[in-house]
Parts: sequence; C-alpha cells; structure tokens
Amino acid sequence: MAAHRPLIAGNWKMYGRTVDLAEIAKLAHTLSERAGGVEALICPPAPYISGARASAGAHLAIGGQDCSPLQQDSARTGEYSAAMLADLGATYVIVGHSERRTQHGESDAVVRQKAEAALAAGLIPIICVGETLAERDAGRVAEVVGAQVEKSTPETSAHVAVAYEPVWAIGGTTTPTLAEIAEVHILIKAVLERRSSGAPKGLRVLYGGSVAPKNARDIFSVEGVDGALVGRASLKAADFEAIISSHPAAG
Ligand code: PGA
Repeated sequence: MAAHRPLIAGNWKMYGRTVDLAEIAKLAHTLSERAGGVEALICPPAPYISGARASAGAHLAIGGQDCSPLQQDSARTGEYSAAMLADLGATYVIVGHSERRTQHGESDAVVRQKAEAALAAGLIPIICVGETLAERDAGRVAEVVGAQVEKSTPETSAHVAVAYEPVWAIGGTTTPTLAEIAEVHILIKAVLERRSSGAPKGLRVLYGGSVAPKNARDIFSVEGVDGALVGRASLKAADFEAIISSHPAAG
C-alpha cells in the first residue's frame, strides 16, 4: 500500500461564522489548481460542517473537532456522533485535543473510545497527545506522551493519525526545537509499531502548536513529521495556503 500523502489539517476551534465559509471556498479554489501532493483538511465548528462541505469541493477534506464516544444513537443532549459527522460529509475528526482533555476532563480511555467510534463510522481520527511545560521541564516527555499514545489509540492503529501537540506550544509563538520535535515523532511511531507489531500502514504523525507560514517549512523538514495540525493560522485561506505551499510535497 502506498504511503498516505502528508496531511495538513486546520482546526478552527470555536471561531468562524457563515461568512467565513468564503475562506474555505477560496482555499478550495487555490487547491484545485495545484498538484495535490498534500492532503488538506479543515475542521470547522460542528454547526458549519455542512456549509463547509458544500464550499470545499473535491480537493479539500472537512472534519469535526470532536465526537461522542458512543456509537449508538442515544439520549445525550448536546452530543453528536461520529456517524453524524460522516453523514454530513466529514472524513476526519480530531479527538483528545488538549483543550478537551483539560477543559472537559477527557481521559485517555474516553479519547480512545472516541477514536474507536470515529473508525466505526468510517472517519479517520486525529488523536492528539502532548506534554505540559511542567512535564517537559521535569524531563517526562517520553513517559507522558508514550503513555498517552498507548492509552488513547485503538489497538488497530492503521488509518489513524496522531497529532503531537505540546500543550505549552498551542496558541502562542513558541515551538519545541526541530530536534525535540523529531525525538517525539520518532517515539510516537516506535510506540505504535510496538503495539501493532510492525509499522502501521498509512499512519501519519502530525506536529501541532504555533505552526505558521514562517516556521512551517522548517517543521516539515523534520524526520517523522507527516504534516501539521494548525489552529490560528488555518482561519484565513492565505495563511493556511502559505503553510500548505511550504511542504516539499505540495508541488
Ligand atoms: P495553534 O493551535 O496553531 O493556534 O497553536 C493548534 C491546535 O490547538 O491544534
């Protein structure tokens, strides 16, 4: 099986309105004129998924930012399932973002259930992991991230993506050094290889946390980096397109 294309995913978080779907249409138009060596994805807030799908055309994937861990339709006010995201045309879903882990108390076990629900619905889960600054300062990166990967990823890890997002690098301007990024990406792949006794085919490990047009090229040059998960810089088509263009596979 051929390796998957690198994936560059935009996480809009709780930003955007109907008017901002024009950014998706703009991006879709630019992507339609390119070689397509990179897979591009936008994850808007759930209420905008249908609109985003309609604006995105054939060259831009749309995903959710979260889903219920439950696979059955259930009495869960305010929740929505992975199957509903798929029904709206999403093909990916982010699970276990650090904002969900800290603000909504999501455990590794819940994140894993969400990833399993995503797979059952035919979506590719992007499973987020990453250490806090205190954990990094205490020299616990490998231990913390290794345990998150072990506990948050489903047993069959083909067709999943993992995003390494150091919590302290999100929403700011600081990133780990390129050597530090490489170290963690290699570690994540080693953990998943050990669990699935061999390299899981198609696995992509993305880097996330303050990716911007000015640092994307360097980050994409790092060994083991198969793309990026981008917050702030995915809201405007021009910035996100500049990040996509920085990838050597973008053509
Ligand atoms: P950022 O967010 O690019 O704004 O740092 C990344 C993320 O939280 O996924």
